[in-house]
Amino acid sequence: MTALKLNHNIFTLDGRQLLSAGTVVSNEIVEELISTHESPSTKSSPFLKHRSIKDNMLLFFSQPPYNTIFADEKKIANILDLMEQVNVPYPILEIMDYFKLNDFYTYRHFLMVYALLILLAQDLMGNNNDMLKEVLAGPTHDLGKICIPLNILKKTDPLTRSERLFLEHHTIAGYVLLSYYLQDSKIFSAKAARDHHERNDGSGYPCGTHLKDRMIEIVVVSDVYDALISPRPYRRLSYDNRTALEEISLMAEKGKISWEIAQAIVAVNRKDRPHYSECIVSLDKRGTPPPDNLYGIIVDEET
Ligand SMILES: [Fe+2]
Ligand SMILES: [Fe+2]
Repeated sequence: MTALKLNHNIFTLDGRQLLSAGTVVSNEIVEELISTHESPSTKSSPFLKHRSIKDNMLLFFSQPPYNTIFADEKKIANILDLMEQVNVPYPILEIMDYFKLNDFYTYRHFLMVYALLILLAQDLMGNNNDMLKEVLAGPTHDLGKICIPLNILKKTDPLTRSERLFLEHHTIAGYVLLSYYLQDSKIFSAKAARDHHERNDGSGYPCGTHLKDRMIEIVVVSDVYDALISPRPYRRLSYDNRTALEEISLMAEKGKISWEIAQAIVAVNRKDRPHYSECIVSLDKRGTPPPDNLYGIIVDEET
């Protein structure tokens, strides 16, 4: 990985500092952190059975546009089957509780990116159980947000440049936290936390690397789609489904994501469910993005 200098500290939910601002994060630093820090609780529990996660997810499936995407009960059963087998260490479940209580949008986002990732991965990579480690990236890709103050996560006004940089810190914080909690710096979910804002053309952050891993690309598209169609603090209205899918096809046209994955998300939104390879994605842009969208707008620092 490209070494990256931290702008902010990285700490666990119970306030233990893992790395301090100014540290240059490399594989060696993370390996050293894993071997020298007190081990986290390795007690693990099934993710889906934790508190009301399963009930909440089923409720979200019943709301538009997910009621179309998850209309097929057999597909839901397949997804839940795979999820039943995923155990996660207790500290990660506590982070789910933290977001459910303090930032419900982020909690909902964790669950829906999880379900979308499995749905798309089953279509694009084959329906198998070899994805157990990879799919954990769904609910954990934004885990590093525990290091970001809630007033930044929930800010409804435009972010300042330093707030924006702080927000971007969630990628590298997630990589370090997941490496630590799972005691493995090479585990897929840690890499996905670090790279889910990178793009195929190198235009993303934190490192501007060119994405090459198909599963991470599927995390990226699941993440972008759910963010577009959901309420967010920085805009009054969500994207309607058509405009959200047009935004994703625009990303594919610009080379930021692969066409096949754009086709796959369009295909699961069609009632007739074509195979993604036969799904024709229109290049017409007829939708209207919501007004007052503050995403990406940076204002001067307050003095
Ligand atoms: Fe993110
Ligand atoms: Fe996300």
